[in-house]
Amino acid sequence: MLPQIKTLDEYRQQYQASVDDPQQFWANIGAHFNWQRKWDKVLDWNFQDPSIKWYDGAQLNITENCLDRHLPARADQVAIIWEPNDPKEAARHITYGELHASVQRFANVLLNNGVKKGDRVCIYLPMIPEAAVAMLACARIGAVHSVVFAGFSAQSISDRVNDSGCRMIITADGFYRGEKKFELKGIVAAALQSTPTIEKCIVFNHRNLPVKMEAGRDLWWHEEWQKADAENKAATVEAEDPLFILYTSGSTGKPKGVLHTTAGYMVFAAYTFKNVFQYQEGEVFCCTADIGWVTGHSYIVYGPLLNGATTIMFEGVPTYPDHGRFWELIDKHKVNIFYTAPTAIRSLQAFGEDIFADKDLSSLRVLGSVGEPINEEAWHWYHDNVGKGKCPIVDTWWQTETGGVMISPLAGITPLKPAFATLPLPGVELLLVDEKGNEIKGNGVEGNLCIRHPWPGMARSVYGDHPRFKQTYFSTYPGLYFTGDGCRRDEDGYYRITGRVDDVINVSGHRIGTGELEDAISMHGEVIESAVVAYPHDVKGQAIYAYVICDKHIENKDVLYKDIRDHVTQVIGAFARPDKIQIVPGLPRTRSGKIMRRILRKIAEGDTGNLGDTSTLIDPSVVDTIKAEAIH
Ligand code: WTA
Repeated sequence: MLPQIKTLDEYRQQYQASVDDPQQFWANIGAHFNWQRKWDKVLDWNFQDPSIKWYDGAQLNITENCLDRHLPARADQVAIIWEPNDPKEAARHITYGELHASVQRFANVLLNNGVKKGDRVCIYLPMIPEAAVAMLACARIGAVHSVVFAGFSAQSISDRVNDSGCRMIITADGFYRGEKKFELKGIVAAALQSTPTIEKCIVFNHRNLPVKMEAGRDLWWHEEWQKADAENKAATVEAEDPLFILYTSGSTGKPKGVLHTTAGYMVFAAYTFKNVFQYQEGEVFCCTADIGWVTGHSYIVYGPLLNGATTIMFEGVPTYPDHGRFWELIDKHKVNIFYTAPTAIRSLQAFGEDIFADKDLSSLRVLGSVGEPINEEAWHWYHDNVGKGKCPIVDTWWQTETGGVMISPLAGITPLKPAFATLPLPGVELLLVDEKGNEIKGNGVEGNLCIRHPWPGMARSVYGDHPRFKQTYFSTYPGLYFTGDGCRRDEDGYYRITGRVDDVINVSGHRIGTGELEDAISMHGEVIESAVVAYPHDVKGQAIYAYVICDKHIENKDVLYKDIRDHVTQVIGAFARPDKIQIVPGLPRTRSGKIMRRILRKIAEGDTGNLGDTSTLIDPSVVDTIKAEAIH
C-alpha cells in the first residue's frame, strides 16, 4: 500500500524529507510498486540539456501495476463505471478481472495488426471504457499512445498523427454528447487522406451509425477481438521508455507532443492520487475530464487504477438532459470524490440552487477543481451547495507537462483558503522569479512560477524535437523549469495561481495557443493577418477576441465572422472558435514590428481609459480606430 500522509505535521515532515533527500524519498515511494527489475539509480538529471531519468535501469509494465497486481484481492471489484450520455441507457460496471481480460485481448489485437513495442498509436475515441482499454493495451505491449481529444478536427488529427508517425489509429463510429452527434469515423477518414504512416484503423461500433470501411485499412474492433487470443504476457518496458504522447498548445508554433515516460509517471500519478484526494479503500472516484486531456490520463485512468480504486467515465455533459446531471450521477453511483473544472461549476451556478432540492449528495467526501483558476464565488458555491459545507475542496494546480498534481491541499489535512492551490506536494520545489530570473524570496510576493528540481512525473521531452523542449521550458530562466504561469505567495506561504503569463489562452480549461489560432484564422481566404487575445468571461474563465485585417472591403461582416468561426472549427476544433471578431485596418505595432498585445488585451477587456504608452507604435492612430469600433 502506497504511503498516505495523515496530518499536517506529517505533510511538513515528508515535504522536508523530499527536499533534503529526494532520491531516498522517491526510492521509498517506488518500493510500493511491482518491478520486473529494480532500478540502478533513482534519479539522474540536469536542467541544462535537459536530461531527466527516474528509476533508471528498472524494468516494469505499468499495466501489471494497474491490473495484475490487484487481481488476488479485487478481481470482482468494479474498476470502471461507465455512465452513458443518455441516463436512460444502462451504466456499465467493469471489474478489475474483466478489465484485465479486455486489456490482454486488445493487446493481442494490436500485436496481430503489426503494432510493436515503441510504435505510436493514435486514440480518437469518445468517453467509453474502450478508450481506457486501448490506452492500457498499448502500455501492455510497450506501444506509445497518443490520445487526441474527440473534439479535434480532421486537420488536427492528421497533424498529430504525422508529427509522431502513428502506425495505427483507434476510433469509433461516433457518439452523442448531449443532443449533438459526433461522427468520429468520418472525421478520421478525412484525416487519413494525408497520414502516410497509418496502416490500420480500428473502429469500435458504439452507436451503430453508418460508416464507410476502407478495405485493407479499416477493421472492426469486434471482429479483431474474436480473432485474438485471450492471454497476453505484459511486455518488459524500461523505466524511461515512453508511455504516452499528449499534444498541448504553447505560445508559439504548432502543438507540442509532450512526452511522458513510464516509471516516474506511474509513481507520481499513483502517489498524487492517493495523497491529494486522500483516497480511502473502496471509494468511488469521479473525474469529469475527458481522456483526451492529461487530467483524464492521470486521474481517470492511471492514478485510480494504480490505487485499485473505482473510477467513473462519464460520456455526457453537465447540462444534459438537465443541469442536475452531475448531482444525479453522484447520487446514482454514490460518488465519494468528485473532481471537475471551474468552468463546469460556473456554468451550473448560473442555473441557481433549486436543482439541489431532491439531490442527496451525502456520499461526497472530497471535491476537486482543476484546469484554471477557480474564483472565490464559484469556490463557495461548490463548497456550500455541492459539498454542503463539509467537503474539503482540493484546488489542484498542474499541467500536461507535470504529469500529476503539483500544488494542492491534501484533502482534510491542509487548511483551505478559497481560490488558493495552497501548498506544493512533497517533491515539488517551487520558486517565484522576476522578469530577469532573480528569485523573489519571502512571503506576500508575486512572480513567475518556476520549479528547481525534477519530480518523477515531469515530461521528458517534446516528441521528435528535444531542442523545443529545452527552449520552451528551460531557457527562459536557465537551470529552472518555467511553468508559464504567474503566481502569488501570500503571507502564509500559500500559492495562488494568477494565470498564464505567456500567450496561451485558457478557455474553459482548454489550452489554446494564440500563435496556432492566429495561423488558423489567417489561413482564411479573406484574412491577411490576425491577432488574438483573451478577455475575462464569467463562465469560461477566458474568452477569445480576434482582431483581423482583411484584404478587401467586407460587405457582409456577419457572413465573414461565421466563416472564420467555421474555418477555425475545421482547422483546430469548435472549442477554439473566437467569441468576438473585429475587422481592423491595422494592428498596433512597435517600430521593431512586434504587435503590442497589451493594448489589444486592454481594448478587448473594455478597459480603454488608459492604454499606457503608445509612443513607440509606428501608427498610434490605428489604436483609436480599433478602440472606436471595439465590440463589447
Ligand atoms: C492552468 C491541466 C489555476 C495553468 C491539468 C496551467 C490552473 C494550465 C489550475 C495547464 C489551477 C491548471 N489553478 N490554474 N488549479 N490547474 N491551471 O496542460 O495555467 O491542460 O499552466 O493541464 O492550466 O493546463 P493543462
